[in-house]
Amino acid sequence: MQLTELTNQLSEVSHTPEAEARFILEEYGDDSDSIYDAISERKSGKPLQYIFGSWKFRNLNLLLDERVLIPRLETEITVDVALRCLSEFVKEGLTALSVCRVLDVGCGSGAIGLSILKEGSEYVENHLKEHFTNKEVRLEITLSDISNDALEVARINYEQNFNMVFENATHNPPQFLKGSWFEALQRVGESNYQNKFHLIVSNPPYISSGEDLPREVESYEPRVALRSGKTGCEDLSHIILNASPYLADDGWLVLELAPHQADELAMLAEATYKNVSTERDLAGRKRVLVCQKI
Ligand SMILES: C[S@@+](CC[C@H](N)C(=O)[O-])C[C@H]1O[C@@H](n2cnc3c(N)ncnc32)[C@H](O)[C@@H]1O
Repeated sequence: MQLTELTNQLSEVSHTPEAEARFILEEYGDDSDSIYDAISERKSGKPLQYIFGSWKFRNLNLLLDERVLIPRLETEITVDVALRCLSEFVKEGLTALSVCRVLDVGCGSGAIGLSILKEGSEYVENHLKEHFTNKEVRLEITLSDISNDALEVARINYEQNFNMVFENATHNPPQFLKGSWFEALQRVGESNYQNKFHLIVSNPPYISSGEDLPREVESYEPRVALRSGKTGCEDLSHIILNASPYLADDGWLVLELAPHQADELAMLAEATYKNVSTERDLAGRKRVLVCQKI
């Protein structure tokens, strides 16, 4: 099938039919049966990412299905901000080798935590070259989620995207924990995690219960990954109010949010953290809240 015909077929379900048509042709080449199946699934509303079963996110090729949220473009900004915070943190440490402990809470597919694991050591070392010539950074990542399904997908994504040989590797194997927000840490012995993390990052659900969503989001993506109570700020507030005991001194909290929530949540963070700021996405909207443990 040609690009034009495919684009026409997709225009009834997609805002970006030509881009999607190109993805389909790239994925299936001239396998016309697969192309017809994909069009039919797409016309029923299923997102392309779930039809393919995998999608690129930064340097990862992620398994994606209806057990997990499809990582959004904004979340790449969240990862950028998190990497910058990690680099800030390591700059303060004066030893040649730094162990950086990171928690991605509400990890879903693992998009954020696994990207930090993939890119973190090199990013931090490159950014610190002007301060240290031989800085080595070893990462320890903990990924948690309330959903067993999500943790299963995150674990597979780890296995598929990383070389499993740990000798001389820049990271230890990640830890996967199940539980609601910081209760996941308490279940395995709270004291182990007090003051532990140099960075806690999250893209929690932040859509209010009454907000309308596009049909394909509502029907296919997991509700637990999208909705957060009446205002949409419930999970974000909970994380802001409860993260501090788990952060190391001067550790960073990085949270993705919706632009209209940014000012209210920044005010909440001011009460407990220092250096509170909000970073903008590519469209110039406030998208990531950043703050540091006092
Ligand atoms: C918006 S999705 C983000 C997923 C992934 N971090 C990303 O950016 O693509 C939110 C995630 O938080 C998880 N979640 C929802 N409620 C939670 C809770 N109470 N405790 C821990 N995780 C929760 C969901 O299962 C989902 O994986």
